[in-house]
Amino acid sequence: MSQPLVLPHDPDLAAPPEGWTATALPALEDAGATEALAHALAPVLRAGDTILLQGQLGAGKSHFARTLIRALMGPEGERAEIPSPTFTLVQAYDSAAGEIWHADLYRMGDPQELVELGLDAAMEEAICLIEWPDRIAPDWPQEAICLRLERVPGAAEARGATLLAPAGSDLARRCLAAMAVA
Ligand SMILES: Nc1ncnc2c1ncn2[C@@H]1O[C@H](COP(=O)(O)OP(=O)(O)O)[C@@H](O)[C@H]1O
Ligand SMILES: [Mg+2]
Repeated sequence: MSQPLVLPHDPDLAAPPEGWTATALPALEDAGATEALAHALAPVLRAGDTILLQGQLGAGKSHFARTLIRALMGPEGERAEIPSPTFTLVQAYDSAAGEIWHADLYRMGDPQELVELGLDAAMEEAICLIEWPDRIAPDWPQEAICLRLERVPGAAEARGATLLAPAGSDLARRCLAAMAVA
């Protein structure tokens, strides 16, 4: 049930570009629920898909990304080290589904760095998971979707989850279909 973005949301999180819609997802009750969401989405992701991961520090962006990368890597992923890209800004992995790029834009200075890091090009041909897309808002790629995770007041582990996507996004359609059967 997509609908125009309903405010208020956390004012520290950047609003999506104009024309994007928001779909409230079932709350993620604990870290295991966030892992289950990553496992549900992994099979429908293809080269050229970008998921922006938005949320405050500790919201679970890296936890989701790490689980998704492991799921895409198959049995090899269980042993793989998936370091945080906080300082390197990007980390790349090989998988049967194609290359996976994990990025964290928190420390990125100039949006021009996207090109220098090769992330711009990677978005065309890899599966890209990008934390802190707020740094490039509102210039979010029109082929991307955004998973927003927000802490729930009074609950230690529960996270509110919202899918933000351009109207008619094929990637959003695939993800919502995958969640419906998960
Ligand atoms: N529902 C949840 N979803 C994701 N992580 C959760 C959840 N509940 C608790 N956590 C914990 O919160 C922490 C989130 O850290 P991290 O994924 O690094 O956050 P971020 O990358 O958003 O800053 C992890 O230690 C994780 O185990
Ligand atoms: Mg992180």
